[in-house]
Amino acid sequence: MYNDIEQIWISKEDLSKRIKEIALELDEEYKGKNPLMICILRGAVMFFADLIREMKIPLEIDFMSISSYGAGVNSTGEVKLVKDLDTKLAGRDVIIVEDIIDTGYTLQYLKKNLNTRNPNSIKTCCLLDKPSRREVETYPDFKGFEIENQFVVGYGLDFDQNYRNLPEIGILKPSVYQEEK
Ligand code: PRP
Repeated sequence: MYNDIEQIWISKEDLSKRIKEIALELDEEYKGKNPLMICILRGAVMFFADLIREMKIPLEIDFMSISSYGAGVNSTGEVKLVKDLDTKLAGRDVIIVEDIIDTGYTLQYLKKNLNTRNPNSIKTCCLLDKPSRREVETYPDFKGFEIENQFVVGYGLDFDQNYRNLPEIGILKPSVYQEEK
């Protein structure tokens, strides 16, 4: 797996340090509120699991699956709901947890969709933000790292469903995705 990685971009230690800081911010903001944390499958799974374990306040979790990309590197702008929540959102304080915001289509769709279910509040927490790729105006309320337009994989993020189990965030060698054509 590491043969396809050009460079480790965010180490395990840096991920863990930043996640502890975000958990503290969330603990503070949601004190006494029992938020519902929503993991957007599949990319957010590592971040979500580590983040909720650092949080000390009572909270609930649920999972949702959205698909926005094909197998390649470019977003199509189409967002499809693959698996919906099991939990009712009325009156809840909802935190959407994502691995990455790229064009913003997924987050925009999620906020719009969940807003129709009458939650008390919706905020978004995202590990990586790529603002230079944004096509729709949407920004996370809590974020881990802002990154340039590199093709990153690992810690949940995939290329063609691989590399999710890399414990760090790495930059994929261009030769790997250029071979796809
Ligand atoms: C990725 C990522 C976000 C979305 C961001 O998901 O997890 O959900 O793309 O892109 P956008 O801002 O351009 O909409 P993907 O559809 O690749 O699925 P995955 O989480 O299963 O990898």
